[in-house]
Amino acid sequence: MNDTFLKACRGENVPYTPVWIMRQAGRYLKEYRAVRSNSNFLTMCKTPELVAEVTLQPIDILNVDAAILFSDILIPCEAMGQGLDFQENKGPILFPAIRDEETVGKLSVPDPEDTMKFVMDSIRLLRKELADRVPLIGFAGAPLTTATYMIEGGTSKNFLNTKRMIFEAPDLYHSFMNKVTSTITEYLKAQISAGAQAIQIFDTWGGIFSPQDFSEYALSYVKKIIQDLKNWQESEKLEQVPIIYFVGETAGLLEEIKTSGADVFGVDWRINLDTAISRLGSDVVVQGNLDPLSMFLPQNKIEERVKDVLKRAVPARGHIFNLGHGVVPETPPENVIALVEMVHQNSKK
Ligand code: CP3
Repeated sequence: MNDTFLKACRGENVPYTPVWIMRQAGRYLKEYRAVRSNSNFLTMCKTPELVAEVTLQPIDILNVDAAILFSDILIPCEAMGQGLDFQENKGPILFPAIRDEETVGKLSVPDPEDTMKFVMDSIRLLRKELADRVPLIGFAGAPLTTATYMIEGGTSKNFLNTKRMIFEAPDLYHSFMNKVTSTITEYLKAQISAGAQAIQIFDTWGGIFSPQDFSEYALSYVKKIIQDLKNWQESEKLEQVPIIYFVGETAGLLEEIKTSGADVFGVDWRINLDTAISRLGSDVVVQGNLDPLSMFLPQNKIEERVKDVLKRAVPARGHIFNLGHGVVPETPPENVIALVEMVHQNSKK
């Protein structure tokens, strides 16, 4: 098996720097659009054969060192009892928005194998189809990032309703977040049991807070999830799967993120990787961090930036190459293919 990615996550020696791309299965690939033209996004997420097909596309096309399950961080919101819809070009809609005791009270902490069995079936199918070619990454949204969609009812600009709940009704926020946190913990345990070989926790909106508020209203729940997962794997005598914690707008929060208990820290492109490493401590494994829109540069300029990131990553105990956030739908796929090759070639030991 190509275990370069898992070795790098554990800070072990690797023959080259492994690379995968956030949102690597998606609309920038014509092969994805072909599958997507026949079904809507949620139906795809709920059909293990389609999940497996589009999860494997970037493995064949890009030659990346890890597969990430094709799904969405909002799947557990529906399992908790909220309505979920993805409208064309409008993003997700969640209804009713969670704003008061009544709407929080109606949410459940679901059994993932009951309500999200299609995800675990997809993982089981993928492990079979991957046949150990590359490891499979499972994922969930962090509680705060998941909660913003549930409270706002979709995507938001200034997160007014989320911050109002935090500042006006902190007890309600905490009781809501306890439900979200338990749901995500059980969901991730189920993914690991089904065969996920690493877990990424997406905290896309962590950067909306001051460091103090981030610690209290977002990070505390992530810590709880990571600690629970580690204790549970130990008690089940399972080999610990690496946990990657990705936070958007990472730079203001590195000292806090460092205390999360994660094995790997995802870094966005708004900070140089060497600066991030010096603040996290050189004993860490980092993942990142090219600006996703640098994929629109000519390939010789992309290569200069690849070399720069690889050089800046040297002081870390381990490095997994990635973009600083998801690849965007307009990206020329040939540049992503070239990027993977550049990382492999330029990092060969
Ligand atoms: O990385 C991968 O390839 C795995 C699949 C994956 C998707 N979403 C597929 C997707 C993953 C890991 C996600 C995570 C996700 N989803 C996040 C966190 C990471 C990030 O990008 O910030 C968030 C915030 C979401 C919520 C979400 N899903 C939004 C806001 C949208 C609409 C915006 C958009 O990109 O269209 C989605 C839809 C979505 N999730 C698509 C895909 C491929 C597009 C669906 C389509 O085909 O129309």
